[in-house]
Amino acid sequence: MPVDIGQVLREHTREIPDFPKPGIAFKDLTPLFADAPAFQQVVDDIAERFRGRVDAVAGVEARGFIIGPPVALALGLPFVAVRKAGKLPGETLSQEYDLEYGSATIEISTDAVDAGDRVLVIDDVLATGGTAAAACALLERTGAKVTGIQMLMELAFLHGRDALGERDVHVLVSVD
Ligand code: PRP
Repeated sequence: MPVDIGQVLREHTREIPDFPKPGIAFKDLTPLFADAPAFQQVVDDIAERFRGRVDAVAGVEARGFIIGPPVALALGLPFVAVRKAGKLPGETLSQEYDLEYGSATIEISTDAVDAGDRVLVIDDVLATGGTAAAACALLERTGAKVTGIQMLMELAFLHGRDALGERDVHVLVSVD
């Protein structure tokens, strides 16, 4: 029987009430990362969806750094680190985006991708979509093309897809 990958993820997600702030139900994916066979199934599912269609895999700090590299290795492709501001050495490109209160900035190295590269963007959770939209904008400013966006989980009630326009968005689990 084929694996129900959404079910695998649901069984390995813990909800932590009132974290990091009162009223927020945090989706904790550490049980997935702690279970090698389940994590492998998730990595394989993502890798097979994009095999042959991308030239690089970009992960967004911090949890995109857990999921992105095994997918990149499974595909035999470079991993691109999209970092919080001020962490990368050398020449960087920056993109600012809005948070609920204030703003944040993410960066990539200018030589991280080449114009025309097809990039898969990976992170754990799509919430408002601000982070993913900024990551896509950053990569696209280099002339790269974002072929797809893969999130483990989407908080659908925050309508993060609206921030991502026509881009090809995939999630394993959607939470209403
Ligand atoms: C979380 C999550 C995504 C982002 C999603 O990261 O891992 O990167 O928020 O939110 P958005 O769709 O509203 O932009 P966070 O900013 O908490 O950083 P961390 O991974 O370093 O903890």
